[in-house]
Amino acid sequence: ISLKSYNTFGIDAKAKYFVSVTSIDELSEVLSLQEYSEKFILGGGSNMLLTQDINSLVIHINIKGISISSEDSNSVLVTANAGENWHEFVCWCLGNDFGGLENLSLIPGNVGSAPIQNIGAYGVELKDSFISCEALNIETLELKTFTNAECLFDYRNSIFKQEAKGQYVICSVTFKLTKNRHTLHTAYGAIQSELDNMQITNPTILDVSNAVIAIRQSKLPDPKKIGNSGSFFKNPVITNEVYQNLKVLFEDIPGYPVSKNETKIPAGWLIEKAGFKGKTFGDYGVHKNQALVLVNYGNASGNDILNLAKLIQNTIMRIFGIQIEAEVNII
Ligand code: EPU
Repeated sequence: ISLKSYNTFGIDAKAKYFVSVTSIDELSEVLSLQEYSEKFILGGGSNMLLTQDINSLVIHINIKGISISSEDSNSVLVTANAGENWHEFVCWCLGNDFGGLENLSLIPGNVGSAPIQNIGAYGVELKDSFISCEALNIETLELKTFTNAECLFDYRNSIFKQEAKGQYVICSVTFKLTKNRHTLHTAYGAIQSELDNMQITNPTILDVSNAVIAIRQSKLPDPKKIGNSGSFFKNPVITNEVYQNLKVLFEDIPGYPVSKNETKIPAGWLIEKAGFKGKTFGDYGVHKNQALVLVNYGNASGNDILNLAKLIQNTIMRIFGIQIEAEVNII
């Protein structure tokens, strides 16, 4: 079958074998099928670039369900299964007035993929409200619980991208969310100015969500209309010394301190400065409102996008001497 509708980049790669599973039992059953030696786990398809057809068995994780496991007067533990759409889950939380995920509104993809890269936006990361996740070991078919500490969360990183890569399927994720007394995260400049625009002085979590949605819609293309995977690259982290040297050459280069010795540079700025923002090459290109996002306007192939990514990486290296890394998984 074509995977075009199963990846937000809208790449028309084919899967030779495809199955959608709706429970952990079904998943175990499919994983134990000996005739398919290789398996490919597919979640929301929002963080990958397919550059070839897939000859192994594609297992689409479609396990649904949201439940409350415990609550007290100020907080609640909510478990969402891996196949729930992330934004619909955030909306469910808002509908119940549960706070903590509102800054992560409108992020494409499913709940089960969210911990893998510790999704984050507008001053909040998944790890800030993540309690644990349950994951099935692909080899032993045993369920294992990973606590927040065990996940080794970092900027766009976790154990599931490092030593546990390819070994587990995340089946559900448990979050601790706030009730009644919410802590709002509005320090990110764009949120505050959006709230000011909306003339809101005493925001609720729903207001913060609406502000985030407005910001995202103004910068990021809707994958239902234009194929994309959000930020294609990670923001590079460089030493303060390298940053100071670059500042001599490029006075306006932005940077955010991330530790005593290191500064994070917005890759979007580097790509814009290199002249790529809004550039189109036939059916694909760099988004006009956010240079960090590569887009497929229709029938681009995964290799078209990959070659553009390489061209951008080489150009950034040549101009700034900085290596930018893909955030998206290249398949
Ligand atoms: N910038 C430019 N030109 C551009 C884009 C950005 O100069 O075309 C510079 C500007 O200086 C701007 C700064 O980059 O002030 C930051 O831009 P923005 O707020 O859009 O954030 P970002 O660093 O480009 C990151 C995440 C996004 C997340 C936003 C908001 C990464 C790789 N990306 O982007 O995440 O929504 O912050 O928190 O960290 C994603 O991962 O798919 C994603 C969209």
